[in-house]
Amino acid sequence: MVSARENELITRTAPGTPGGALMRRYWQPIALSGDLPAGGAPGPIRILGEDLVLFRDEAGRPGLLGINCPHRSADLSFGRIEDGGLRCLYHGWLFDIAGRCLEQPGEPADSTYKDEIRHKAYPCRELAGIIFTYMGGDDPPLFPDYEFLHVPEAHRYTTKTYIDCNYLQALEGDIDPVHLSYLHTAVKPPDRRAVPGGARSADFHYGNDRRPTLELELADFGVRIYSIRAAEPGKKYVRMTNFIMPNKAAIVGNEGRINQGNQINWHVPIDDTHHLRFDITINRERPLDLDRYTAPIGPEVTPEGRMVRNQANRYLQDRDEMSRTFTGMGGYFMAHDSFASESQGPIHDRTREHLGTTDKFIAAARRQILEGIKDVENGREPRHSIRDEADNDLSHIVVLSEVVPNETDHRTLWKKYATESRANGT
Ligand code: FES
Ligand SMILES: [Fe+2]
Repeated sequence: MVSARENELITRTAPGTPGGALMRRYWQPIALSGDLPAGGAPGPIRILGEDLVLFRDEAGRPGLLGINCPHRSADLSFGRIEDGGLRCLYHGWLFDIAGRCLEQPGEPADSTYKDEIRHKAYPCRELAGIIFTYMGGDDPPLFPDYEFLHVPEAHRYTTKTYIDCNYLQALEGDIDPVHLSYLHTAVKPPDRRAVPGGARSADFHYGNDRRPTLELELADFGVRIYSIRAAEPGKKYVRMTNFIMPNKAAIVGNEGRINQGNQINWHVPIDDTHHLRFDITINRERPLDLDRYTAPIGPEVTPEGRMVRNQANRYLQDRDEMSRTFTGMGGYFMAHDSFASESQGPIHDRTREHLGTTDKFIAAARRQILEGIKDVENGREPRHSIRDEADNDLSHIVVLSEVVPNETDHRTLWKKYATESRANGT
């Protein structure tokens, strides 16, 4: 349980809040490259409670500016893309992606007033088909060198979905290994499916042992999460995932089940009661079977990234289906997750909860977020804000899903998936 004050700290991210100051110390994804085609229209976007306009200039560079023109506040998302920037429709002031005012066509020809204007502008970087921004000032940290930056495009699949609740409660679902044995399960656990060669699938193990042994390990990036389930005689099923400061998780996903990749779930606050969930799935060894990803999403998510099952339609729960699935809400994991997190309320009131032993990862993540808030307040670098190239080898962020003999040391098992350089580190 956290206090009301702590709950405010870890959930509120608007400008001027301590939690917002922490969140602004990290690069954050804000859109998919495909949301902003070259030559396309600018669009309004709200991130961390700030109303902004996202656009591409004529050179194709993404720009993120305050939505209201600094002249007399007309909405720049209606503006014209021309002459090296975004031009306001009201009086024609022109802004580049750095927020410089390039023209004030109504002012006297010899005026230098435009040089005094600097509009709110956040730097953007476009990597792996995603547009990221840094909203923390003039001295951004290095972009974390996550594995998804290094795989070919065909090995990567990214979705952006709108979730109608505070970012943190959805993130807490990602680092909750026990819910896999309930929320997402079929009523009869599937056996010997999905894995070539007849090995039992991860789903089998989630359903087969619903009371996993849980172990926690603190890491420089966040928290390592081990869940150990009984498998066939003499063996255990080891699953390892990670909380990554301050608002993402590396989970197993489809590709991690075969130890060929992972999935990063990145929860970016739109405001305190809505967020964007970016899921970035990779396979480091082979191109993804895209149909496997797009087919289940088709009926469950609108082209704009809104969940078809939502609070207003009670997630289309089918009570008859509950003889087959635990939830009666179909087979799409994100529908189950959005039910679970949205139904906790717009901002989960954590003073009412009763944490069990299975919630220790969530408690640890909250502590790290609170520590990060303190670090920023005291002028220190928060955890996983990386400023030195030597610290930007992140090959020790890996996931695991594997059946091994009981005597195997599961705490070192992940190192075979890390590169040599960090195999002995934390
Ligand atoms: S309000 Fe934008 S140019 Fe005047
Ligand atoms: Fe889930």
